[in-house]
Amino acid sequence: MASERVPLVAGNWKMHKTEEEAEQYIQALLPRVSSVSGVDVAICVPFTDLRAMVDSARGSRVEVYAQNMHQEAQGAFTGEISAPMLAELAVHGVVLGHSERRELFAETDRALAQKVPVALAAGLKPILCVGETEEERDAGDTERKLRHQVGEDLAAVADAELGAVVIAYEPIWAIGTGRVATPEQAQEAIAFIRALIEARSAEAGAQVRILYGGSVKPENAAELLALPDIDGALVGGASLDAESFARIVGAAAA
Ligand code: PGA
Repeated sequence: MASERVPLVAGNWKMHKTEEEAEQYIQALLPRVSSVSGVDVAICVPFTDLRAMVDSARGSRVEVYAQNMHQEAQGAFTGEISAPMLAELAVHGVVLGHSERRELFAETDRALAQKVPVALAAGLKPILCVGETEEERDAGDTERKLRHQVGEDLAAVADAELGAVVIAYEPIWAIGTGRVATPEQAQEAIAFIRALIEARSAEAGAQVRILYGGSVKPENAAELLALPDIDGALVGGASLDAESFARIVGAAAA
């Protein structure tokens, strides 16, 4: 089954890169990934870089994602961006529920339960982020946390559409810390998430792509990406340099 899923390597820039910096980056990235095959490539960029990156990546293999989105189409939500706004820019997808948004900006599972189906309806591919804190792992609560997040955030997605969602398992203790999950920890959690999706729909369980995120680097990518249930990576810090990101893409290539 795993071989039918095309891996996705997505670079999450977070709040990095002005438009000028983004242009330099994409010009460095495109030639480095143009000949790799068997892997989807995405960059998840600040709102202000979206239009320029969509234009510069057009016709290439690199897809452009936003990092957040409001669930309503429009309204009195100062500072927010809606799905139709992203779709009009021909953005390919959107990261939803990143742990930084959950922790620093009070993103709730209740909002995510609305955001995921809204993104799908707008033709945007959602990357839903889930993952436990260090305290939750130490307390043996990892599976409870994942069951809660996956259950609640995807509750309003029809079974037939579940396979179109990308899930990123990102243990919070591994994000930006240099402390990568062991292959066993990553595989175990991701297989658990896949089983949660399979319990709703066997077909969706086989289709859904589940990424690992948290201190992925060129040096550890190959080992993580070789694991049977891991269908790619969501890469933060190591995606900020085009050369380093391209090496991770290369590690996922067929
Ligand atoms: P990191 O971030 O690769 O810098 O740990 C991953 C993420 O937050 O998506």
